[in-house]
Amino acid sequence: MRLDKFFSNTATLTRTECAKACRAGLITVDGAVIKDPSFALDPEKSAVTYRGERIIYKEYIYIMLNKPEGYVCSNDEPGGGIVFELIDPRLIKLGLFVCGRLDKDTTGLVIITNDGVSAHNALSPKRHVCKEYEFTLADHVSDEDIEKLKNGVTLADGTETLPCVINMTGEKEGKIILHEGKYHQIKRMFASVGNKIVRLRRVTFGGISLDPSLPAGGWRYLTDEEERIFRGLA
Ligand code: URA
Repeated sequence: MRLDKFFSNTATLTRTECAKACRAGLITVDGAVIKDPSFALDPEKSAVTYRGERIIYKEYIYIMLNKPEGYVCSNDEPGGGIVFELIDPRLIKLGLFVCGRLDKDTTGLVIITNDGVSAHNALSPKRHVCKEYEFTLADHVSDEDIEKLKNGVTLADGTETLPCVINMTGEKEGKIILHEGKYHQIKRMFASVGNKIVRLRRVTFGGISLDPSLPAGGWRYLTDEEERIFRGLA
């Protein structure tokens, strides 16, 4: 791989910035200063530094975002307000997408990656990857309705939901764990028993928990362990 491609793939420097950094003698490969941005290296084996700091190459990027309200999980939205605006713009060029979209008014854990195979597996209905949400309802919900929802209900369009786990933590607040992800599923489930979701926040996705230290709109890379979980390796 060319040195400038290595830097753009790690979202460290653009090709132009890499050429400048080379001229300034700021880049080393295996201890030698490299002045040529087309220099060929092995991204997995060569020790690359920029301004004395080691740059680790990763084939794929995995990001945890604490999505705030008012942002959509798609690539474009007239007037702005897409989740990609919240992360480092240099990363966008790496072909990132959201794994498991949330509604515009839903907050919490969103995983953004360019690893299409792992994302596809994580979302595959066959895998039944679990997602946990905290919710607040407009109205009190009866134990009977909670039982119905737990056992699976038929939504307005005839879709049947799988059994799920629901624990009420207050009169109108609770937690729900789903093993599937149908469009607007939680809102439609509670609508089927005549109630309404007024607040929804995803707190886990397939064994990965939202980092409580991330503010709304904040993001970080997944840790190695979280990455292994996401890729189905842990
Ligand atoms: N269910 C919903 O209704 N909305 C979401 O954003 C996620 C799950």
